[in-house]
Amino acid sequence: MTTRPPFLTTRFGAYYHREVPAEDAELTHVGPGTPCGEYFRRFWQPICFSDDLRDVPLRVTILGEQLVAFRDRRGSVGLLELHCPHRGTSLEYGLVSDRGIRCCYHGWLFDVDGTVLETPGEPAQSTLKDRLCHGAYPTHEYKGIVFAYMGPPDQQAPFPIYDSFERPGYRIIPGRKYFYPCNWLQILENAMDPVHTAFLHTIVSGSQFTDEFGKVPELDFVETPVGMIYIATRRVEQNVWARMVENVLPNLQQVAPIWEDGHREHPFDGPMMSRWIVPQDDTHTMFIEFRHVSETDGVTPSWWADRSIMLPGQLPADDSHEASQRRPGDYEAQVGQRPVAVHALEHLGATDRGVIMFRQQIRRGIRAVQTGEAPEGLSQKAGAVIPTYCNDTIVRVPPGPTPEEDRQLMRATGRSLAESYLKHPPSMTGVTVPR
Ligand code: FES
Ligand SMILES: [Fe+2]
Repeated sequence: MTTRPPFLTTRFGAYYHREVPAEDAELTHVGPGTPCGEYFRRFWQPICFSDDLRDVPLRVTILGEQLVAFRDRRGSVGLLELHCPHRGTSLEYGLVSDRGIRCCYHGWLFDVDGTVLETPGEPAQSTLKDRLCHGAYPTHEYKGIVFAYMGPPDQQAPFPIYDSFERPGYRIIPGRKYFYPCNWLQILENAMDPVHTAFLHTIVSGSQFTDEFGKVPELDFVETPVGMIYIATRRVEQNVWARMVENVLPNLQQVAPIWEDGHREHPFDGPMMSRWIVPQDDTHTMFIEFRHVSETDGVTPSWWADRSIMLPGQLPADDSHEASQRRPGDYEAQVGQRPVAVHALEHLGATDRGVIMFRQQIRRGIRAVQTGEAPEGLSQKAGAVIPTYCNDTIVRVPPGPTPEEDRQLMRATGRSLAESYLKHPPSMTGVTVPR
């Protein structure tokens, strides 16, 4: 446990604030054998895009492990320990072969499951290759992303299919992959902190989304069977706009469209993006996106289907540090929390309810794995489509008589929509969104 430093109550008191407590290792450390690392290893994790695998191997770091990914000439995808079991050369310099990958140093050949197929320098009668395996993880490709299961082989969960990935009238395209030099948790928490869209993305950096995002919303947070959502409700003339953004345990975010403005009534309308926040190690994190693009012209802005274009505010200003200071976005805000944010130094307020709820969910999952139980949100049934809850819904609800009554009305509207979705998941199949 960490000790809390003195809560400063005197002016010019920094002298009394010397002690920097340790980060919460249970929630943030992801290497092999750590509580959170074991938790993550129960869930399939994205490794790279399918089209990252070309004729040279791809070196990746995931959950503190050094690995190499490749697609052999038969088309099978491998994810192996980086260092050759012979004398340790990195397989990132290996030769992608007809079957498996061959080490560049002495030519040992490894299949995608770690079988040692050839040890060419050894005598013909050598049984060395039959007596060992190289470390390998199972992989699964889905809609342009390569996923891996890095947990205990006897506990491999079915690959999860979320309903938003199979939404009628929409196609999934691989989006962008990008990296932050900080811990995974402070990035995921950001999605459960909707106040920052009204400040960081609107007031500080000019309107990065629609102007309506600049109104501080009424906020509520609700647990779902797979994680949690925030419900941000805003008044837009005669409408209430309920925006629900979702964290799916442990590290998938679904984000409602940033082009919504709340002016036109519509029912449950799903995410623009599903992205995983994948820990590479304790202080480096990879984002990897699926983008949701409508097959109907004019519904999704055309820039969103262009993989070269980023969501605004996600990367550091490219020209200079001063430019970052003048227009900070998510990158500056989250990386600026330290390489691993120190929870014992925080002073959480009323708007941090979602952050607290999310940390509790993660901690419950970590402790469930420690006691041998299945963590919340783990897929249980192969082939089942799992409901998710990210959406915008715009309903006509004229304003209440006073500002306070109107705020209550907005909250009640958001709550009752969320409750109805939890009871009868829209599951998107069969849900038609009139445009
Ligand atoms: S180090 Fe890889 S084959 Fe010798
Ligand atoms: Fe943001």
